[in-house]
Amino acid sequence: MDAENTSSPSPSGLTSPILVLGATSLIGEHLLTRLNALGTTPISLSRRPPSDDICWVDGDLADPNLADELPPVATVFSLSPIWLLPQALPALKARGMVRLVAFSSTSRFTKQDSPDASERAVAKSLADAEAAVEAFCAAHGVAWTILRPTLIYLEGRDGNVSRLAGLIRRFKVLPLSGQGEGLRQPVHADDLAGGAIAAAQAPAARDKAYDLVGGETLTYRVMAERIYAGLGRRPAILPLPAWLFRLLLTLAKPFYPGATATMGDRMAQNLTFDDSSARADFGWAPRDFRPRF
Ligand SMILES: NC(=O)c1ccc[n+]([C@@H]2O[C@H](COP(=O)([O-])OP(=O)(O)OC[C@H]3O[C@@H](n4cnc5c(N)ncnc54)[C@H](OP(=O)(O)O)[C@@H]3O)[C@@H](O)[C@H]2O)c1
Repeated sequence: MDAENTSSPSPSGLTSPILVLGATSLIGEHLLTRLNALGTTPISLSRRPPSDDICWVDGDLADPNLADELPPVATVFSLSPIWLLPQALPALKARGMVRLVAFSSTSRFTKQDSPDASERAVAKSLADAEAAVEAFCAAHGVAWTILRPTLIYLEGRDGNVSRLAGLIRRFKVLPLSGQGEGLRQPVHADDLAGGAIAAAQAPAARDKAYDLVGGETLTYRVMAERIYAGLGRRPAILPLPAWLFRLLLTLAKPFYPGATATMGDRMAQNLTFDDSSARADFGWAPRDFRPRF
């Protein structure tokens, strides 16, 4: 039987079989839990096994023989970097994909004019991949939705909020570049898992892209204060002149992989987006920023 003929709508409003790419990502565990709670039996694909007891395909999206490893699919949730997706789309389509919900990032906008060449390259990869996904899906009759989160957090696991919590635990004092007045909208991984399912279920979300932000817009400094609160500590925040913070980052680079001078400069910039179309089209309603560690 043809793979496409095996697909079936279910009471969950999602067409099965369901495949989750990148189940070991921050969003993956929550997405699998939510899909299981809906009575579906998702299959996951990644290079490492997810921690949950779940049907797992050991696969690499960059593998030219990917089609040989894929099970029949209908709905695909892509939580892996979107630049890996275009090359995998023909194989996914060949196995029956009719609906795709793919995560990209608001970094495609915030990093496009970065002074850092590697950040500009990330922004370009995201934008190119989004365009390729849209073009492929339009040409092959696959309904698509692209979701662009801002800064994702998941207590104890992410490299943003949880990394700051780790620094606070270790050093007690958190230095900032300037007053940390740039606005942020941190978004919880579990809200994104729920948002991805809601988008897949909503006819209004077909063939559209959305920026997904957290429930609150706060300054970098207030975000840091909330992290102190989540750790049960009183804030000890040290605003530094931008040049001194940059020097500190350079010295800390060996212990803080991925640290770049632009990270400090960005603390003064507003990185905000509008989620009103997601609220209207699929009921996006994320939580406030009150992390608990
Ligand atoms: N972290 C953020 O703040 C942030 C912000 C905005 C948008 N996003 C986007 O949101 C999504 C989830 O973010 P995340 O930070 O949780 O991602 P992540 O930790 O980088 O996880 C990426 C996932 O992709 C899988 N993966 C990577 N390379 C693969 C390959 N060659 N073949 C198969 N699977 C591969 C990984 O699994 P294995 O390593 O086990 O293969 C992992 O499950 C991503 O699309 C990301 O770009 C992230």
